[in-house]
Amino acid sequence: MTQNLYSIRMRASQGDKHVSGAERLVSAEKIDETVQAMISRARSRDRIPDRIKVTIDNIESPTLRTLTALDVVTLNAPDAGAGRTAASHVLETAGVSADAIEIAIDYLTKGAAPSGDNMRGAMIMDGRTGERVEPDQERGVRVSRFDWSSDAGEKIDTQLKDVGLAHFRTREALALATKVVHAPGVIAELCWSDEPDYTAGYVASIKTGYVRFPFLKKHGDPRGGRVFFVKRSAFDMQSLINYLQAEPVLVSDTGICRKEMSREEYFSSLKAESNGHV
Ligand code: COA
Ligand code: AMP
Repeated sequence: MTQNLYSIRMRASQGDKHVSGAERLVSAEKIDETVQAMISRARSRDRIPDRIKVTIDNIESPTLRTLTALDVVTLNAPDAGAGRTAASHVLETAGVSADAIEIAIDYLTKGAAPSGDNMRGAMIMDGRTGERVEPDQERGVRVSRFDWSSDAGEKIDTQLKDVGLAHFRTREALALATKVVHAPGVIAELCWSDEPDYTAGYVASIKTGYVRFPFLKKHGDPRGGRVFFVKRSAFDMQSLINYLQAEPVLVSDTGICRKEMSREEYFSSLKAESNGHV
């Protein structure tokens, strides 16, 4: 797909603290309204930023990759303990080892940066051994240059609203996760937010889709982060980082969004799919 698109990125901060960030890929005539919406969003937060930085770049790559969004489902685990157990089960189904899952959850729980803080991006972890392989453990790797196409964006808003997921975070996280799981060598992603009052998180993989959990941490907990699990034999660090950070991806179609279901219902639906009768 060839299209003249602009990457618009907003980052709001207060002193050295990150307050919020957002990004879009839009055509020239949508630049003004997009910037306006991003600034309004940055100023609507409880924590008032003392700096809002908006960057606009023409996308140099003439070729744009288009992807179909992962299917979405919520598993109704009632608290963080149950949520993490269910998320671990989903990650194992995606091909991540029990050891790597335990190590990943431990890092996210205690603060994955060597300073003990949250990282500024994601860990990259060997999905078999749990070894961390990202080049900078304070920073991690940040995914950028992704968005919904106009049509798919409208469609997903309706679909997510219909299953009670109207929060803008789900829309954005779903686009990010769709880009991540199509990266060369990535098996799965685990994420929960570092916002103290946002307890939800997800596991994403091509095999399982985007599986959301209302609780992956307790309310008030300021720790969070992302882990991208990789198959060591099938990935090259430089190509992975280049894809995640720089290659533009538009999510141009939606998948299926299902209503909340129990863990048992979800796993039996996966089994039915893999047996060929959905
Ligand atoms: N947490 C903490 N610091 C952050 C940050 C984050 N999430 N994102 C950016 N920063 C700070 C860092 O200090 C960074 O320097 P570093 O590269 O040494 O870490 C600095 O801002 C510049 O970041 P950069 O990514 O180069 O800025 P940008 O203007 O190109 O893009 C974002 C900023 C926030 C838009 C982009 O990084 C991003 O996260 N995009 C995805 C947004 C999104 O849709 N997220 C969905 C989450 S549900
Ligand atoms: P958030 O979903 O914005 O609450 O972010 C949760 C965590 O994900 C942050 O603490 C970072 O560690 C990580 N993160 C934030 N933005 C990105 C990104 N663009 N790519 C990869 N990881 C990110």
